[in-house]
Amino acid sequence: MDKIEITGGIPLEGKVRISGAKNAALPLLASSILVQGPVDYTNIPDLMDIKSIKMLLEDLGATTETSGSNIRIDASAINKAEAEYDLVRKMRASILVLGPLVARFGHARVSLPGGCAIGARPVDLHLKGLEAMGAKISIEHGYIEATTSGRLKGCEFYFDVPTVTGTENLMMAATLAQGTTVLRNCAREPEIIALADALNLMGGDVSGAGTAVIRINGVEKGYCGKRSGQSLDSASIHVIPDRIEAGTFMVAAAATKGDVLVQGGEPEHMGGIINKLRQSGASVDISEEGIRVKGVEKIKSTDIKTLPYPGFPTDMQAQFMVLMSIAEGNCVVHETIFENRFIHVNELQRMGADISISGGNYAMVRGVKSLSGAQVMASDLRASASLVIAGLVARGTTTINRVYHIDRGYESIEKKFSSLGAQIRRC
Ligand code: UD1
Repeated sequence: MDKIEITGGIPLEGKVRISGAKNAALPLLASSILVQGPVDYTNIPDLMDIKSIKMLLEDLGATTETSGSNIRIDASAINKAEAEYDLVRKMRASILVLGPLVARFGHARVSLPGGCAIGARPVDLHLKGLEAMGAKISIEHGYIEATTSGRLKGCEFYFDVPTVTGTENLMMAATLAQGTTVLRNCAREPEIIALADALNLMGGDVSGAGTAVIRINGVEKGYCGKRSGQSLDSASIHVIPDRIEAGTFMVAAAATKGDVLVQGGEPEHMGGIINKLRQSGASVDISEEGIRVKGVEKIKSTDIKTLPYPGFPTDMQAQFMVLMSIAEGNCVVHETIFENRFIHVNELQRMGADISISGGNYAMVRGVKSLSGAQVMASDLRASASLVIAGLVARGTTTINRVYHIDRGYESIEKKFSSLGAQIRRC
């Protein structure tokens, strides 16, 4: 199994280009199910999670053609509406095929995602929303069974908590439903706006994405053939840049006291991250060329509370904790989105960080002068990224085991860090 070995202590310097966003690409690829014909995607990142959703779509009967960062998916020939356990267990976001499948085929069987390293992560709101659209939902033998006689029906639905993939699932399902759907208390992430833009390019009618209320008018365009029904149109879709990948490089620049120009990112999507970096003393300059982050000798402690977008993202909490672990002073990191999202803390302690967890969702971080290289274990995607940053900062050598977690969400991470002068290699 691959490991990553890092010899730390080198300030990162140079330019790095950001790839397409994993969390935008996954729902966009799932939305191809709504189309009777090909959909062309550009700027798709080369990641394990993308391979997983492609495999899932192929297993359903779709054809896929990949050329570099371009993918064409044609879901015309889908002949199965079941996402199997082995595919879903690799990637929880496989739940994104549920809404499109039931909307287009009137039934779907999707393995219920189990727990994962960062907590229970229920999908009850996805299911309640589909029920409100008239689907009958049952859980049998570990699978979600969703069926509807005739089309799904437009409805009013209020999310108890804003959920990203839940909002995306219901938005997609509603495009082929009969009538108007109004979703309230929606998640407001840029990836949701990207999906709404794509659905509109495909002939859908979605408004309000990026606010708490999204309105979707179901299309009446049908198609004939062996299996007639509603469908969206073929389209070409470009994936937005990955704000979490960009944020990870920006925090790494600040933590190593380096000077890095992050190119191709979208600063408008990164307010929470930029704000906290500036509070830590780093300089963040935004220009036509990109986002330039320069670290400072004395990093300042600053409290962090994760929140739904546009608040500080939970997907940047672990990386930021590394920066705080070498800051001057103490701070509190409050994780409000997922329980159990402090698994990286034990590993950071092994590298000399002074962090204690209190009440499950709070971490007290007392800044230390330096970290020291150690053997550590990656546990989930963003925790792995935090260990890479810790390795880049630490004295001596850090070996990160189980790096397959990182390949789920970071394209060519060791090549990108090497190009910034880091001593990092896969072995
Ligand atoms: C998405 C992102 C993930 C990010 C997370 C929060 C993708 C593919 N993944 O995950 O990287 O960390 O948003 O920004 O986009 N909840 C319920 N019931 C539900 C659904 C969610 O109670 O039916 C709760 C969750 O337990 C959690 C909160 O809602 O506390 C937000 O989770 P959610 O936005 O759904 O996360 P994901 O969409 O799985």
